[in-house]
Amino acid sequence: MILKKIELVNFRNYESLKTRFYKGINIIYGDNAQGKTNLLESIYVLGITKSHRSFIDNNLIKDSSKKAIISGAINNGSLDIDLNIEIENNNKKLKINGTNIKKVSDYISNMNIIIFYPDDLELLKGSPQIRRKYFNLQLSQLYSNYFIVLNDYNKLLRMRNEYLKKMNMNINVDMNYFEILTNYLIEKAIILIKMRYKYIEKINLYCEKIYQDIGNINNFNIKYKPSIDIDIKDDQKSRSILKKYYDNYLKYDIKMSCTNYGPHKDDFEFLLNQNNLKIFGSQGQQRIAILCLKLSEIEIFKKYRQTTPILLLDDVFSELSDNKKNNLLKYISKDIQTIITTTELNNLDKKLIKKSKLFKIENGKLIKVKEVKESE
Ligand SMILES: Nc1ncnc2c1ncn2[C@@H]1O[C@H](COP(=O)(O)OP(=O)(O)OP(=O)(O)O)[C@@H](O)[C@H]1O
Ligand SMILES: [Mg+2]
Repeated sequence: MILKKIELVNFRNYESLKTRFYKGINIIYGDNAQGKTNLLESIYVLGITKSHRSFIDNNLIKDSSKKAIISGAINNGSLDIDLNIEIENNNKKLKINGTNIKKVSDYISNMNIIIFYPDDLELLKGSPQIRRKYFNLQLSQLYSNYFIVLNDYNKLLRMRNEYLKKMNMNINVDMNYFEILTNYLIEKAIILIKMRYKYIEKINLYCEKIYQDIGNINNFNIKYKPSIDIDIKDDQKSRSILKKYYDNYLKYDIKMSCTNYGPHKDDFEFLLNQNNLKIFGSQGQQRIAILCLKLSEIEIFKKYRQTTPILLLDDVFSELSDNKKNNLLKYISKDIQTIITTTELNNLDKKLIKKSKLFKIENGKLIKVKEVKESE
């Protein structure tokens, strides 16, 4: 997959920007606070519809402007697709090839992105919510059905919680309807848990080898820890396991006015020799673990979507040793479009710079420094 060009209007510190990217490696360099991260963020928003670093969409609009526009042209391996997002009043309008798209699920799996950025470590060190959000997004990029089921699950969860709140306040509710809600919730939960299991299984097929290559250590894997475990081979059995849980914890759920168990409480662990890296890992081991996860995801995209995702690397080279940098480059520089930002060109290998398209960024203005001939 290739991002051919992008156009921004009033996005962050960009009043207007129009540029074409090379199908291989693109390097954007510039001092602090010039707009490097903002540019990668705009590409991320174009694909994912949300920012990786701000929950509030209005933050993306340039100060004192009303509307931000991001447009881009991608080629997904066989087709050219135009994508367009307008952000105004915390609202987003999505377009594919000029046609309005109502459902995010119809939009989100068109442009696949994997981003590496300095705060990535939070994925390992932070709360389970951060990991759930991450894996939900990765699964949604891969399977639009996952995104649909997840939205249904969240809707049912909100409805069930409303009922629990009423029961807590002794308001009479229709218990038959509550039962139906719970059963629907269980059906969606089974799909999500099964897809999460399968995804992590796929990741682990690649992860250990990559970790060995980059970190020179064996026995690394990621473990999915569902809050209620099921039998992924037997839906009937899973139904009764979940049903029993929800029955047994009904009193507790009413007391807390919310559903205490289910996929919305799941977690994922990064294990090295069975030890949780969150607790036992060094900073270096943790960083490699995140790199491995993301490099494995590239392999999964290649295998299951027959295309490579677009890689965004925000200032990640300054924190890796030369050896690890080279190992990482070995993985990424093969026919995969990559957009790298850095404050210091010296952080990057000369050979890499030679084969890359080079841009300099100054106060929201992008200056092309070096082209690569498309045949190279
Ligand atoms: N909504 C906005 N409107 C205008 N300017 C903004 C907006 N949001 C952020 N900025 C500004 O954009 C500038 C560039 O930010 P960005 O994070 O892209 O810098 P950077 O080049 O990645 O810097 P660093 O090397 O420090 O990471 C900052 O000065 C920031 O304050
Ligand atoms: Mg930055």
